[in-house]
Amino acid sequence: MRILLLTHAFNSLSQRLSAELQLLGHQISVEFDIADSVTEEAVLLFRPDLIVAPYLRRAIPESIWSHYLCLIVHPGIVGDRGPSALDWAIQSGESEWGVTVLQAQAEMDAGPVWASENFPLRCAKKSSIYRHEVTQAATTALLQAVRRFESGNFVPQALATLPAVRGQLRAPMKQGDRCLNWERDDTATVLRKIHAADGFPGLADNLFGEVCHLFDAWPEATLRGAPGALIARRETALLRATVDGAVWIGHVKRANSIKLPALLAFEREAQDLPDVALQSWWRNDTATWQDIAYEENGAVGKLHFEFYNGAMSTTQCERLRRALLWAKQRSTQILVLMGGSDFWSNGIHLNVIEAASLGRGSAADESWRNINAMNDLALELINTRQQITVAALGGNTGAGGCFLARAADLVWAREAVLLNPHYKNMGNLYGSEYWTYLLPRRVGEDGAQAIMRNRQPLTAQRAVEIGFADACLTGDAPAFHTEVARRTMELAAAPDLDLKLAAKREARARDEAAKPLAAYRAEELTHMRRNFYGFDPSYHIARHHFVRKSAASWTPRHLARHRDLGWTTP
Ligand code: COA
Repeated sequence: MRILLLTHAFNSLSQRLSAELQLLGHQISVEFDIADSVTEEAVLLFRPDLIVAPYLRRAIPESIWSHYLCLIVHPGIVGDRGPSALDWAIQSGESEWGVTVLQAQAEMDAGPVWASENFPLRCAKKSSIYRHEVTQAATTALLQAVRRFESGNFVPQALATLPAVRGQLRAPMKQGDRCLNWERDDTATVLRKIHAADGFPGLADNLFGEVCHLFDAWPEATLRGAPGALIARRETALLRATVDGAVWIGHVKRANSIKLPALLAFEREAQDLPDVALQSWWRNDTATWQDIAYEENGAVGKLHFEFYNGAMSTTQCERLRRALLWAKQRSTQILVLMGGSDFWSNGIHLNVIEAASLGRGSAADESWRNINAMNDLALELINTRQQITVAALGGNTGAGGCFLARAADLVWAREAVLLNPHYKNMGNLYGSEYWTYLLPRRVGEDGAQAIMRNRQPLTAQRAVEIGFADACLTGDAPAFHTEVARRTMELAAAPDLDLKLAAKREARARDEAAKPLAAYRAEELTHMRRNFYGFDPSYHIARHHFVRKSAASWTPRHLARHRDLGWTTP
């Protein structure tokens, strides 16, 4: 079938559904929901058999849904309606939630149901639930709905005819509905309220006497203070006391500014707070905010880096490099880089870079520092001599993050993970992180050029097929961790481990003799210098819009196939 994805943005859910539908042999084209007339034009050009709307912020016009079957993916249980589905579910502490695929009609979210899928609701950030449970359930439900449509004999059920519908119409959640009370709310309530608003719109609050929005909350098990008081800082986070404990705030958006690490947002104000830095990289046994954490089991070391949104600033890269250097000195034989629970890495920190241009600094200088810090980290990983290194991708990874992962000897990705190993979407950025060394030797020169040019997301399965990744592991996040542990123990116990390590050192020496890593880096950075400091401001403009979430005014041509020159409907 020809399936048109009509979506507000080509976000991770849209990418996953697009990839899954393509795997089934369907022809997919994407149109951003910009204006009714643009959608009508796209439909005329593509003449789809089916329209799927994975992520919309407006209703589909009647001119479309009255002629084409439009399947809406709604992140709520059957009967749930309204734009704040997940916010209400998380804030009210639902134990089970779901995704419903329904047919677009005049009334929003009220059309007949084609499929639905439920899941247990974790206590976690809304964005995390969206990227894990919602995406998984949406995939299952949408594929079932598509099969039902193909069968030609399925009759979707009208909401009114369904028995015992738990969901209901809910108004958009306002800040008044979220409202924190630090003198009354316990830690669990504070966490739930901030999670329900994360990553958008954040929870409106007041820090240092200034109105701001909070994101990225973590519980603290031991430190205490007067309810509501800011009591400590650590690296990029601030700690605020609740009635029965305390909560770390990792990210903040001040009025008229952008979302930033909390300590950067309130750099001057936070200086007087006591610094409660952790004294080692070892993973803490009790709940606290720890962005870099190391654990060890026999010959296997694991380095976790829980960086919000997978973005890695200069300082975070430098600290992670120090942790990596330390981990390499341990007498382990396998070293696993676990990334974070939602993302493995998304490369340089575009918000922190943008912040430099808001102050008196320079975004170009900060970009330069950040890419060099990423490169130093990648170099340290490539030059690991005593351990086999594994990048274990339990969450999505994009741009430079993909090549940081590829700097490890082995890349294992969870089946549901998406990889975007290309840079061009960010204002034609050339990219670094030694990709010109790491990519062609895995996928060939032509393969590398095609990946960079096509700018398409790769499923874990596809990444293995083309040679970018080494293994695709099935199951959810807990199953993935179990399988990574099993495989690494097996690797460590293999009788030929020493031979493997020796072969790896020899291969690296051969490659270095053929062309030193420093030469790859210098060439890449020549391009990057032009991106950052040259006449063409594309990267700076793209970053500005990305960070501010500017609405798209057209669909990129590599996604809107129906807008290709010479496109004709078969
Ligand atoms: N720096 C700062 N923030 C980043 C980031 C980065 N490198 N990559 C992603 N984010 C943020 C997004 O702004 C968004 O923020 P929000 O919490 O305010 O919504 C959040 O992470 C999730 O990103 P989103 O785009 O919604 O996730 P996705 O899973 O749909 O898409 C990517 C993932 C990687 C395709 C997309 O985020 C992207 O293109 N990121 C930029 C990658 C890049 O160009 N890096 C620089 C070159 S190395």
